[in-house]
Amino acid sequence: MTVNRGDKPESNEPSDDPSSSMWRSGAAPAFRKLTIADRFAFEEHLLRLDPNDRRLRFWGGVRDEAVRDYCARLDWTAAVIMGAFVDGGLRGVGELVRVRVVPQMAAEIALSVEGSWQNAGVGTELLRRVLILARNRYIDRVYMLCLAENKKMQKIAGKFDANLTYQEGEVEGRIWPAWPSVFSVMEEASQDGHAMLNAIFDPATVSPQSPRT
Ligand SMILES: CC(C)(COP(=O)(O)OP(=O)(O)OC[C@H]1O[C@@H](n2cnc3c(N)ncnc32)[C@H](O)[C@@H]1OP(=O)(O)O)[C@@H](O)C(=O)NCCC(=O)NCCS
Repeated sequence: MTVNRGDKPESNEPSDDPSSSMWRSGAAPAFRKLTIADRFAFEEHLLRLDPNDRRLRFWGGVRDEAVRDYCARLDWTAAVIMGAFVDGGLRGVGELVRVRVVPQMAAEIALSVEGSWQNAGVGTELLRRVLILARNRYIDRVYMLCLAENKKMQKIAGKFDANLTYQEGEVEGRIWPAWPSVFSVMEEASQDGHAMLNAIFDPATVSPQSPRT
Protein backbone atom coordinates (compact mmCIF):
# COMPACT_ATOMS: atom_id res chain seq x y z
CA MET A 1 0.00 0.00 0.00
CA THR A 2 1.21 3.49 -0.76
CA VAL A 3 0.00 6.17 1.60
CA ASN A 4 -0.87 9.43 -0.09
CA ARG A 5 0.05 12.73 1.46
CA GLY A 6 -2.57 13.69 3.99
CA ASP A 7 -3.97 10.16 4.30
CA LYS A 8 -2.78 9.12 7.71
CA PRO A 9 -2.69 5.40 8.40
CA GLU A 10 -4.38 4.16 11.57
CA SER A 11 -1.04 2.95 12.87
CA ASN A 12 2.44 2.12 11.60
CA GLU A 13 2.50 -1.53 12.55
CA PRO A 14 4.39 -3.58 9.98
CA SER A 15 2.26 -5.39 7.44
CA ASP A 16 3.77 -8.71 8.53
CA ASP A 17 4.36 -9.58 12.15
CA PRO A 18 8.03 -9.03 12.95
CA SER A 19 7.73 -10.96 16.20
CA SER A 20 7.53 -14.15 14.17
CA SER A 21 11.07 -13.65 12.92
CA MET A 22 12.50 -11.81 15.91
CA TRP A 23 15.48 -12.80 17.94
CA ARG A 24 16.33 -15.73 15.74
CA SER A 25 19.89 -15.36 16.94
CA GLY A 26 19.01 -15.97 20.58
CA ALA A 27 19.24 -13.29 23.26
CA ALA A 28 16.51 -10.69 23.07
CA PRO A 29 17.93 -7.19 22.87
CA ALA A 30 16.95 -4.49 25.34
CA PHE A 31 15.74 -1.30 23.69
CA ARG A 32 15.96 2.19 25.08
CA LYS A 33 16.37 5.76 23.94
CA LEU A 34 19.90 7.04 23.97
CA THR A 35 20.86 10.29 25.64
CA ILE A 36 23.83 12.53 25.05
CA ALA A 37 25.59 10.50 27.78
CA ASP A 38 25.59 7.61 25.28
CA ARG A 39 27.35 9.62 22.58
CA PHE A 40 30.59 7.66 22.71
CA ALA A 41 28.80 4.29 22.74
CA PHE A 42 26.86 5.54 19.70
CA GLU A 43 30.06 6.58 17.96
CA GLU A 44 31.76 3.28 18.77
CA HIS A 45 28.77 1.35 17.42
CA LEU A 46 28.99 3.23 14.11
CA LEU A 47 32.76 2.71 14.00
CA ARG A 48 32.28 -1.04 14.50
CA LEU A 49 30.12 -1.37 11.37
CA ASP A 50 32.09 -3.35 8.81
CA PRO A 51 33.25 -1.38 5.74
CA ASN A 52 30.32 -2.43 3.56
CA ASP A 53 27.70 -1.69 6.23
CA ARG A 54 29.37 1.65 6.93
CA ARG A 55 29.20 2.45 3.21
CA LEU A 56 25.49 1.49 3.15
CA ARG A 57 24.80 3.56 6.26
CA PHE A 58 26.58 6.70 5.03
CA TRP A 59 25.90 6.20 1.28
CA GLY A 60 29.56 5.88 0.47
CA GLY A 61 32.90 4.96 1.97
CA VAL A 62 33.74 7.19 4.91
CA ARG A 63 36.82 7.22 7.08
CA ASP A 64 36.75 6.90 10.88
CA GLU A 65 37.27 10.66 11.13
CA ALA A 66 34.12 11.33 9.11
CA VAL A 67 32.10 9.02 11.38
CA ARG A 68 33.48 10.82 14.46
CA ASP A 69 32.70 14.15 12.86
CA TYR A 70 29.12 13.05 12.12
CA CYS A 71 28.68 12.05 15.79
CA ALA A 72 30.26 15.25 17.07
CA ARG A 73 27.94 17.37 14.92
CA LEU A 74 24.78 15.49 15.78
CA ASP A 75 22.26 17.87 17.32
CA TRP A 76 20.78 15.83 20.16
CA THR A 77 18.00 18.37 20.58
CA ALA A 78 16.74 17.57 17.08
CA ALA A 79 17.37 13.83 17.27
CA VAL A 80 15.79 10.93 19.07
CA ILE A 81 17.84 7.75 18.92
CA MET A 82 16.63 4.30 19.86
CA GLY A 83 19.31 1.82 20.86
CA ALA A 84 19.30 -1.98 20.85
CA PHE A 85 21.55 -3.47 23.54
CA VAL A 86 22.72 -7.07 23.71
CA ASP A 87 24.54 -8.08 26.87
CA GLY A 88 25.08 -4.41 27.65
CA GLY A 89 26.66 -3.59 24.30
CA LEU A 90 25.01 -1.17 21.89
CA ARG A 91 24.54 -3.27 18.72
CA GLY A 92 21.91 -1.35 16.79
CA VAL A 93 20.46 2.14 16.52
CA GLY A 94 17.50 3.79 14.88
CA GLU A 95 18.10 7.51 14.39
CA LEU A 96 15.23 9.95 13.95
CA VAL A 97 16.59 13.38 13.11
CA ARG A 98 14.27 16.32 12.58
CA VAL A 99 15.12 18.11 9.34
CA ARG A 100 12.19 20.51 9.00
CA VAL A 101 9.65 22.11 11.29
CA VAL A 102 7.43 24.15 8.95
CA PRO A 103 5.06 23.83 7.19
CA GLN A 104 4.99 20.26 8.54
CA MET A 105 7.53 18.50 10.68
CA ALA A 106 9.73 16.12 8.74
CA ALA A 107 12.51 13.84 9.91
CA GLU A 108 15.07 11.46 8.50
CA ILE A 109 15.49 7.93 9.74
CA ALA A 110 18.68 5.89 9.58
CA LEU A 111 19.19 2.38 10.90
CA SER A 112 22.31 0.39 11.68
CA VAL A 113 22.77 -3.06 13.16
CA GLU A 114 26.19 -4.65 13.60
CA GLY A 115 26.92 -7.67 11.40
CA SER A 116 26.59 -10.51 13.92
CA TRP A 117 23.20 -9.21 15.06
CA GLN A 118 21.69 -8.71 11.60
CA ASN A 119 18.84 -10.73 10.10
CA ALA A 120 17.36 -11.41 13.52
CA GLY A 121 14.61 -8.78 13.44
CA VAL A 122 16.53 -6.03 15.26
CA GLY A 123 16.37 -3.54 12.37
CA THR A 124 12.64 -4.09 11.92
CA GLU A 125 11.97 -3.59 15.63
CA LEU A 126 14.13 -0.45 15.70
CA LEU A 127 12.14 1.02 12.80
CA ARG A 128 8.84 0.10 14.47
CA ARG A 129 9.92 1.85 17.66
CA VAL A 130 11.33 4.89 15.86
CA LEU A 131 8.05 5.31 14.01
CA ILE A 132 6.21 5.41 17.36
CA LEU A 133 8.62 8.18 18.45
CA ALA A 134 7.91 10.06 15.20
CA ARG A 135 4.18 9.60 15.59
CA ASN A 136 4.17 10.90 19.17
CA ARG A 137 6.13 13.99 18.09
CA TYR A 138 3.62 14.93 15.40
CA ILE A 139 6.19 14.29 12.70
CA ASP A 140 4.20 14.40 9.50
CA ARG A 141 6.63 12.63 7.22
CA VAL A 142 9.77 10.58 7.60
CA TYR A 143 12.37 9.97 4.93
CA MET A 144 14.82 7.14 4.58
CA LEU A 145 17.63 7.32 2.07
CA CYS A 146 19.54 4.26 1.01
CA LEU A 147 21.58 3.01 -1.90
CA ALA A 148 19.61 1.17 -4.58
CA GLU A 149 21.59 -2.01 -3.82
CA ASN A 150 20.44 -1.96 -0.19
CA LYS A 151 17.63 -4.49 -0.64
CA LYS A 152 17.54 -5.32 3.05
CA MET A 153 16.69 -1.76 4.04
CA GLN A 154 14.09 -1.60 1.30
CA LYS A 155 12.58 -4.87 2.55
CA ILE A 156 12.26 -3.44 6.06
CA ALA A 157 10.83 -0.13 4.81
CA GLY A 158 8.31 -2.10 2.76
CA LYS A 159 6.99 -3.74 5.92
CA PHE A 160 5.87 -0.30 7.06
CA ASP A 161 4.22 0.62 3.77
CA ALA A 162 6.96 3.03 2.76
CA ASN A 163 6.55 4.72 -0.59
CA LEU A 164 9.86 3.96 -2.32
CA THR A 165 11.19 6.18 -5.11
CA TYR A 166 14.20 5.04 -7.13
CA GLN A 167 16.56 7.62 -8.60
CA GLU A 168 20.17 7.51 -9.77
CA GLY A 169 21.44 4.68 -7.60
CA GLU A 170 19.52 5.80 -4.52
CA VAL A 171 16.18 4.99 -3.06
CA GLU A 172 14.13 7.41 -1.03
CA GLY A 173 11.53 5.89 1.25
CA ARG A 174 8.75 8.04 2.65
CA ILE A 175 6.48 7.06 5.48
CA TRP A 176 3.64 9.15 6.84
CA PRO A 177 3.43 8.29 10.52
CA ALA A 178 -0.05 8.03 11.97
CA TRP A 179 -1.17 10.80 14.30
CA PRO A 180 -0.50 10.14 17.99
CA SER A 181 -3.10 8.18 19.90
CA VAL A 182 -3.53 7.32 23.56
CA PHE A 183 -2.13 3.90 22.69
CA SER A 184 0.98 5.17 20.89
CA VAL A 185 1.75 7.57 23.77
CA MET A 186 1.16 4.76 26.28
CA GLU A 187 3.39 2.45 24.31
CA GLU A 188 6.28 4.93 24.36
CA ALA A 189 5.74 5.60 28.08
CA SER A 190 5.64 1.89 28.81
CA GLN A 191 8.84 1.32 26.80
CA ASP A 192 10.55 4.11 28.76
CA GLY A 193 9.32 2.62 32.06
CA HIS A 194 10.55 -0.81 31.02
CA ALA A 195 13.96 0.61 30.09
CA MET A 196 14.17 2.34 33.47
CA LEU A 197 13.36 -0.88 35.33
CA ASN A 198 15.95 -2.71 33.25
CA ALA A 199 18.51 -0.08 34.19
CA ILE A 200 17.74 -0.61 37.87
CA PHE A 201 17.53 -4.40 37.92
CA ASP A 202 19.80 -5.29 35.00
CA PRO A 203 22.46 -2.56 34.76
CA ALA A 204 24.08 -4.40 31.84
CA THR A 205 21.38 -2.87 29.64
CA VAL A 206 22.83 0.56 30.39
CA SER A 207 25.49 1.54 27.95
CA PRO A 208 28.97 1.18 29.44
CA GLN A 209 30.82 4.42 29.98
CA SER A 210 33.40 5.15 27.39
CA PRO A 211 36.96 5.29 28.65
CA ARG A 212 37.06 8.78 27.14
CA THR A 213 34.30 10.14 29.42
C1 LIG B 1 19.68 -2.50 7.13
C2 LIG B 1 19.90 -3.07 8.52
C3 LIG B 1 19.67 -1.98 9.56
C4 LIG B 1 18.91 -4.21 8.73
O1 LIG B 1 19.00 -4.67 10.06
P1 LIG B 1 18.59 -6.17 10.41
O2 LIG B 1 18.56 -6.28 11.88
O3 LIG B 1 19.47 -7.10 9.67
O4 LIG B 1 17.12 -6.25 9.81
P2 LIG B 1 15.96 -7.34 10.07
O5 LIG B 1 16.57 -8.61 10.55
O6 LIG B 1 14.90 -6.73 10.93
O7 LIG B 1 15.32 -7.49 8.64
C5 LIG B 1 16.09 -7.83 7.52
C6 LIG B 1 15.13 -8.32 6.46
O8 LIG B 1 15.80 -8.28 5.19
C7 LIG B 1 15.76 -9.58 4.62
N1 LIG B 1 16.96 -9.72 3.81
C8 LIG B 1 18.19 -10.13 4.17
N2 LIG B 1 19.02 -10.07 3.11
C9 LIG B 1 18.28 -9.60 2.07
C10 LIG B 1 18.56 -9.31 0.71
N3 LIG B 1 19.78 -9.49 0.20
N4 LIG B 1 17.56 -8.85 -0.07
C11 LIG B 1 16.31 -8.65 0.44
N5 LIG B 1 16.00 -8.90 1.72
C12 LIG B 1 16.97 -9.38 2.53
C13 LIG B 1 15.70 -10.53 5.81
O9 LIG B 1 15.19 -11.80 5.44
C14 LIG B 1 14.73 -9.77 6.71
O10 LIG B 1 13.42 -9.87 6.26
P3 LIG B 1 12.37 -10.82 7.07
O11 LIG B 1 12.31 -10.27 8.47
O12 LIG B 1 11.09 -10.65 6.33
O13 LIG B 1 12.94 -12.19 7.02
C15 LIG B 1 21.33 -3.67 8.68
O14 LIG B 1 21.53 -4.62 7.66
C16 LIG B 1 22.42 -2.63 8.59
O15 LIG B 1 22.80 -2.03 9.60
N6 LIG B 1 22.96 -2.38 7.38
C17 LIG B 1 24.04 -1.42 7.22
C18 LIG B 1 23.54 0.01 7.39
C19 LIG B 1 22.39 0.29 6.48
O16 LIG B 1 22.28 -0.24 5.39
N7 LIG B 1 21.49 1.18 6.95
C20 LIG B 1 20.35 1.58 6.15
C21 LIG B 1 20.58 2.89 5.46
S1 LIG B 1 20.38 4.22 6.58
